[in-house]
Parts: sequence; C-alpha cells; structure tokens
Amino acid sequence: MGNKVTVVGAGNVGATCANVIATRELASELVLLDIKEGFAEGKMLDIFQTATLLDFDTHLTGVTNDYAQTADSDVVVITSGMPRKPGMTREELIGVNAGIVKNVVESVLKYSPDAVIVIISNPMDTMTYLATRISGLPRNRVFGMGGALDSARFKCYLSKALKVNSNEVEGMVIGGHGDTTMIPLIDKAHYKGIPVSELADSETLKKVAADTMVGGATLTSLLGTSAWYAPGAAAAYVVESILRDQKKVIPSCVSLEGEYGQNDICIGVPAVIGKDGVEKILELNLTEEEKAAFEKSAAAVRKTNSVLKELSVL
Ligand code: 2OP
Repeated sequence: MGNKVTVVGAGNVGATCANVIATRELASELVLLDIKEGFAEGKMLDIFQTATLLDFDTHLTGVTNDYAQTADSDVVVITSGMPRKPGMTREELIGVNAGIVKNVVESVLKYSPDAVIVIISNPMDTMTYLATRISGLPRNRVFGMGGALDSARFKCYLSKALKVNSNEVEGMVIGGHGDTTMIPLIDKAHYKGIPVSELADSETLKKVAADTMVGGATLTSLLGTSAWYAPGAAAAYVVESILRDQKKVIPSCVSLEGEYGQNDICIGVPAVIGKDGVEKILELNLTEEEKAAFEKSAAAVRKTNSVLKELSVL
C-alpha cells in the first residue's frame, strides 16, 4: 500500500495526530488541512521545525481548505468540528458537526476515492454512521476511532489501580464512545493472563470502569476543552495499523451487519485493522451483563443517529 496520509482539522487532536504520524515516520507524505486561513500551514511548519531535533524525515504539507493537495491519500483522518466544552456531552455537538463532517467526507472522496477514512469527529459513532451512509463505501473503508482511545484510558486506570506496568495489562472498551455508552470489559481484562478480578476487589474495578467512561469528560473539565494527546496518539495508532498492515485488534466503530445482533448502526466492536481498513470483526463471547450493556449502548447511539434525519443531513 501507498503511504500518503491526510488529516483534516488542524485543531488540537488533528495536529497531535499529525505530529505523532510525522515524528514516528508512519507516512512518507502527510497533509494537514484546515478551513482556518494559515492554521494548518502554521502547525505543519512548527512540526517541520522539530525534524532535525527529533530526526525524522516525513514530507509535510499544511493547506487551507485546498483538497486538491490531499489527492490520492491512502488514509484520511477526519477530526473536523467543534470540541466539547466543560459540562457538554459529545452528543450535544451533533448540530454543528454533522454538516461539517458531511462536507469534508464529500470533498475528501472527490480527490481520494480509494482512501480508508477514519472518523474522529464527535459524536463519533453518529458521525461514522453519517460518513458510511453518505459515502456509500464498503464498511471496511469508513470506520470510527474511539475504542483505541477508550481502551488506552482503561489500561491506564487499570495499571494505576493494580500498580503494574500499563503495557502489561490487556483490556478493551466496546460500545459507543459516550460517557454513558462505553463498556469497559472488566471481566475480560487481564494482567499477563491473570484476570484482573483476581488482583483487585470489585469496588476498585468498578471505579476503574467508571473513571474510564468519563475519561474524556474529566479532561474536558480540567482543560476547558477536549483532550488531545491521547486522542491524537490513538488516531495515529490506528493509522499505523492500516499503513503497516499490522492487523492489530483495535476496538473500532464499525457498521454492523448482524454482528452482536445489530444492524443499521455504527458502534465499537473489536476489529482487525490492516491495509484494507476493517478486515474482520471479532465476535466476543459476551456475558449476559455485557450483552445487556451493549444493547443499551446501541439504543442510545441509535437515538443520537435519529437526530441526523431531524437535521436533514441524512
Ligand atoms: C475524547 O474522548 C475527544 O472524544 C474525545 O477525549
């Protein structure tokens, strides 16, 4: 596969994602695009000025709304739209972000009809649903990033609670990417094969799950806007699995066709991510409790999706 990546939206998340892609040399060519005059150019110049300090060699371009420069991208990451303010849910952003995401997807596909598209804009599950429906692309080529971030936060809180190396804990978050819709799979989390339930009491683990679910909201109230280091790095992690055909299992927001008993919805499930985007969906053996949580999560995501029709964007 080729090696050109475009990141649309040069805000905190987009610029951080671009920075990680550049510094880790994941792509040979990287374009950052924003509608704000000079903004993406400035961010890319700033990143370029770290090249000799950090020793990387990625070809960087920043552009103001000039989609022609994104032509023939292999992967396009869409971060456009408003971030959350303290006290806001991701779902409250739908009115502003739906129109933006629709326009961006159409513009991207005009110049990169073969790209794999990764949606980050919030409310991410609904923006992914919108992108899959308006693009008409096969579901492997348009999916959303939320689970990579939520699972990273889950592992972070788990490792703190268990007082172990965060790279040695395994855990996944599935379901919607919302404060009340995400499902940290505590029963399936483990430390070197030892179930976490053998290493911590249930109160501690309940707190880990609760902290994970409001992981983004906690940062929004501390920072006054949405987080960016972890979301940007999580997006770059997904891009790496595509470009390097790593086939990592990454919980991702995918259009379901009967998996997990669901249809006509995009929601987080474990997926093998490789050069073709979503190459496979893993169907986990969920407990009754997890199944009920997944159904509840899907119902909430569907409710947000229904707003797309009310707004006439779909
Ligand atoms: C977050 O969870 C931005 O939705 C993103 O921080």
